[in-house]
Amino acid sequence: MTQPSGLWLVVGAGGMLGRDLTEALRNEGITFETVVSGQMNITEPAEVAQTLRRFRPSVVINTAALTDVDGCESMGERAFAVNAHGPENLARACRETAAFLVHVSTDYVFDGSKKIPYTEEDPPSPLGVYGRSKEEGERLVRKALPDAHCIVRTQWLFGPHGKNFVEAILGRTERTNRLRVVNDQYGAPTYTSDLAVALVTLSHKRATGTFHVTNSGVTSWHGFACRIIELGGVRGVTVEAITSMELARPAPRPSYSVLDNRKFVQCAGYSLRHWEDALQDYLGRRGAGREAWA
Ligand SMILES: NC(=O)c1ccc[n+]([C@@H]2O[C@H](COP(=O)([O-])OP(=O)(O)OC[C@H]3O[C@@H](n4cnc5c(N)ncnc54)[C@H](OP(=O)(O)O)[C@@H]3O)[C@@H](O)[C@H]2O)c1
Repeated sequence: MTQPSGLWLVVGAGGMLGRDLTEALRNEGITFETVVSGQMNITEPAEVAQTLRRFRPSVVINTAALTDVDGCESMGERAFAVNAHGPENLARACRETAAFLVHVSTDYVFDGSKKIPYTEEDPPSPLGVYGRSKEEGERLVRKALPDAHCIVRTQWLFGPHGKNFVEAILGRTERTNRLRVVNDQYGAPTYTSDLAVALVTLSHKRATGTFHVTNSGVTSWHGFACRIIELGGVRGVTVEAITSMELARPAPRPSYSVLDNRKFVQCAGYSLRHWEDALQDYLGRRGAGREAWA
């Protein structure tokens, strides 16, 4: 394994994935710096260039994004500024300073019309503004930094440091004993701690190109909710299966966006554990108290 020497820079370090990534880097003994939005706005090319000149990182990992999928529908300009031109600014600054860029993207670049897992070669066809802005970010990263980028598409993230589906479901069970959850969208729930380790692996290897990385297994949001309730030890709550049409959210979502991880497995030499095992781990740490993952 080639180990890039020097300092790594985490962009978006205050976010759900960013915070678990800093923990993974600390565990690996990697020298790193972090920047949050108040320190470096990725939509500002001069700020980005100046920050990279200052830190001279060998690896930059970008977890910053505008992730409000529904909100993006009415904030198109901002979504493209952050999710498309932000990564472009980072890629250009990486080119200038000879850094390797790892950029996190999403399954929402696909329309979900496939019935088998999406590979990296499948053509993107996003349904909403968020997906379109993220796809454009991918394109601009590839263009600006063709030989020194790693784009990691992932999905359905949950982790201790951000708003996520697990907390939303458990929170709702405190207020009601009847939940309604969509049963016609399929994917793989992915634990930010596991993804963070995968990002470190790909960075170590300077794996160039696009990679799909999720926890193993497939479920629907309804299946995920049922398992959260079961493993979370919640009693007396029923989970009704509904369709996406019934929920009527502003942004359309792919009905099937399972990502084929074989390219990652071949590169890394391992696959991420099953999402249910990851969920159990998450719930165990949660049960041990917030201080267990501070
Ligand atoms: N969450 C999911 O289910 C999911 C699924 C697939 C892919 N992804 C991708 O995974 C990555 C991490 O997602 P996440 O859930 O960890 O996101 P998150 O918790 O929303 O964190 C995103 C971070 O980006 C920062 N940010 C936003 N605009 C910025 C700007 N202009 N300059 C600098 N920083 C900025 C935010 O900082 P402020 O809060 O200070 O603005 C925030 O800390 C993203 O690329 C996302 O697209 C997420």
